[in-house]
Amino acid sequence: MSNQDKTMNNPSPGKVQNLHDEHPRLRLDEGALEAAKRSLEKGAVTPSYGPWREDIIQLLNDALATEIVCTLRYKRHYYTAKGLASPAIAEEFLVHAQEETAHSEQLAERIVQLGGEPDFSPSTLLDRSHADYDESADLQAMIRSNLIAERVAIEAYSQMIALIGDKDSTTRRVLESILSQEQEHADELSDWLTP
Ligand SMILES: [Fe+2]
Ligand SMILES: [Fe+2]
Repeated sequence: MSNQDKTMNNPSPGKVQNLHDEHPRLRLDEGALEAAKRSLEKGAVTPSYGPWREDIIQLLNDALATEIVCTLRYKRHYYTAKGLASPAIAEEFLVHAQEETAHSEQLAERIVQLGGEPDFSPSTLLDRSHADYDESADLQAMIRSNLIAERVAIEAYSQMIALIGDKDSTTRRVLESILSQEQEHADELSDWLTP
């Protein structure tokens, strides 16, 4: 095939190239793929986490402290409400305590996957938690303080999800699943609350 024929079969290669330049393509970052083959000590953390990894670990550690405080508050309420008029509410507190513990485990696991250290230090727990501990003696006060804590958790997780966006889709999925359970908790508590 002569050069002239080649040109006729592919009349304007320059034009195709220009089209690519004008419209950025969905292409993987080959350099980051190569970098992922190195730094094996980083486990699941690859270059795409970029500069956000430490901030995400910090957000997760604050959420971890919140979940631990929520577990402790619900446990306290479970044991003190048990002898009161409504054993059904006490059971609800126990279920919530167990679910907050499960959340704390999901968060700790994700922190470690990101190469961070989960902070379980009891001495700083309340300072780091978004939600409060509570020692109310009557059932309605317990329900109210738990509902406040759930609303704080819902707001914190919603903000975290918005902040993380597409920077870390695995963490976002973990947070979304926890958020939906906090919304259930708040709903259930609302049903118990007398106006
Ligand atoms: Fe939780
Ligand atoms: Fe909750």
